[in-house]
Amino acid sequence: MTTRAFNPLSRRQWLKSSGLVAGGAIATQSLSPALLPALEAPAAPAVVNGQTTLDGFLALEREIEAMRRADGPIRLASNENPYGMAPSAKQAINDMWKEHAWYGAAAVPELRKIYAKQMGVPEDYVLVTAGSGDVLSIVALAYAMQGGEVLTPWPTYEGLPRYAEALGARVHKVALDGDLAHDLEAMERRHVQSVDLVFVCNPNNPTGTLTDSAKLRAFVSNASRKSVVLVDEAYHDFVIDPGYTSMIDLVKAGENVIISRTASKIHGLAGLRTGFAIARPDIIARLQPCVTSFPGVFGARAAAASLQDTAYQNMCRDRNSEGRAIMQTAVKALGRRMTSSHTNFVFFDTGMPVEKVQEAMLTKGFLIGRAFPPYTTWARISIGTPDEMKRVAAVLPEIVKPATTGQ
Ligand SMILES: Cc1ncc(COP(=O)(O)O)c(C=O)c1O
Repeated sequence: MTTRAFNPLSRRQWLKSSGLVAGGAIATQSLSPALLPALEAPAAPAVVNGQTTLDGFLALEREIEAMRRADGPIRLASNENPYGMAPSAKQAINDMWKEHAWYGAAAVPELRKIYAKQMGVPEDYVLVTAGSGDVLSIVALAYAMQGGEVLTPWPTYEGLPRYAEALGARVHKVALDGDLAHDLEAMERRHVQSVDLVFVCNPNNPTGTLTDSAKLRAFVSNASRKSVVLVDEAYHDFVIDPGYTSMIDLVKAGENVIISRTASKIHGLAGLRTGFAIARPDIIARLQPCVTSFPGVFGARAAAASLQDTAYQNMCRDRNSEGRAIMQTAVKALGRRMTSSHTNFVFFDTGMPVEKVQEAMLTKGFLIGRAFPPYTTWARISIGTPDEMKRVAAVLPEIVKPATTGQ
């Protein structure tokens, strides 16, 4: 996760095997089962020293594609990792299966220890939660109970604003800018003294946009002098932009900042509900009494293994970038407006009510995201395997019309 430099597969080997290199250019050729007979080494181990091997990943990809096709429609609606958990994570669950019957298993404290070490913070800076959605609710409970005020960009991930509103808080929603990214200047103007909690999401969901790291750091640092600031970094692991940095350094510098991260995305553990809050120990101590659920031992064991399996994360990230590029090419060919996505989904203007696009995509075997008002003609399509995205790209022009000038 943080140690991206280590990868037991050479980059060349991976690109070559995945068909990405064609005379130095990115090709859309991808791994399909038919292209792989030479790579099928039956006895090759799926995991070596806690790292998923290329053979392990390729076997998983074949299995997953067949399973998703058989299950149908293909799930491209909730920004899930199509590959699911790493083979190393499966192994960790198998090894510790008996813990499911226990209260107080060591799985969660051990995960906390591993996570803190990876993040470079002491253990008391970390809270392990039942998914990062739980961090958002816990923070709303701790800081935005009745009468509290929350400042948030809009649209963004709705977990925190929705929960805060249910708690009786007043939520100030600030529209995104022209690129559908956070409008930090407008947020700064709306950041009145009475605001208790500021929420930012980087990269943002549903738009996939990244806010410039230096500008965001200045905004968060400033805002944290008046209110606590929660930075949702659920899509952190998919970002390959060299200018991107996490806001975790602000936590380490002792600022009034909380980072939320998840095991649901690159680690493929959405169903096992594991997430993290990272903040100063006094902030963690304030969150602790608001915790309402307990992370499960399987999620904790799987996340602990996956966090250390950088090979798996790298392969998922590479495959995601490949699938995203296929989608971006397809949308660009239609001349449609699209945000610059740094996540495992794309967001683009279809020129028609998105419900109609959803229906049409479903008839083609794909489940895509819902409408995100006020962008009711924009579709959010999560990235599946590259082969799945090629199939989406092939049907898209049958559903979405090319843009005329001015759309
Ligand atoms: C930005 C963002 N934050 C938080 C979450 C919640 O994720 P989880 O509760 O699975 O960690 C999501 C889920 O899609 C998300 O997109």
